[in-house]
Amino acid sequence: MENKQRKLIIPLADGQYEFILAKGPDVVTYLSNGIVDLGIVGSDILMEQNVSGYQLLDLNVGKCQFILASTTDFNPTSAGRKVIGTKYPRVAQEYFARLGQDVEIIKIEGSVELAPLVGLADAIIDITETGTTLRENNLQIYDWLAKISTRLVVNPLALKQKKNEIFQLVDQLAQVI
Ligand code: PRP
Repeated sequence: MENKQRKLIIPLADGQYEFILAKGPDVVTYLSNGIVDLGIVGSDILMEQNVSGYQLLDLNVGKCQFILASTTDFNPTSAGRKVIGTKYPRVAQEYFARLGQDVEIIKIEGSVELAPLVGLADAIIDITETGTTLRENNLQIYDWLAKISTRLVVNPLALKQKKNEIFQLVDQLAQVI
């Protein structure tokens, strides 16, 4: 796995497992179409895709948080419709709906911190791990929405058909977490 180069399918030497490498947002697609039995994906993506039933284990890695952030002059309680930049439009929409605020969401694919700096958005909903990107761009956190970590997810049919093997793997993983 460390020396995978550009390979996308990686069988392990013992022949017991084969890994396929996919982008996070595609993991549940491969899972729900029966291409893989198990997936490894961030809970940020599961929240954004509104997927709830597939989770087997919190792998306790890739830990970060959903935050509301902006420049230091942002006022989160000000009147008026705010513009929010984010890679997570559903998470952002639900957050502001809970607050009773009607906002305009602009979907951004990456480097979300740029949006409030150049005036594309009033604030962002994004994930932060170390806080370095926010700090280096003079952005401030105004609210913490949810904790995030990497999850093991399962195809429900695979769970029925390969129950023993899957739970054996879950037990092994749980021991090293
Ligand atoms: C994520 C996130 C922040 C950054 C936060 O971006 O969107 O930009 O990590 O990490 P930090 O708190 O440790 O600085 P990612 O690196 O996934 O790439 P992206 O900018 O292309 O979305």
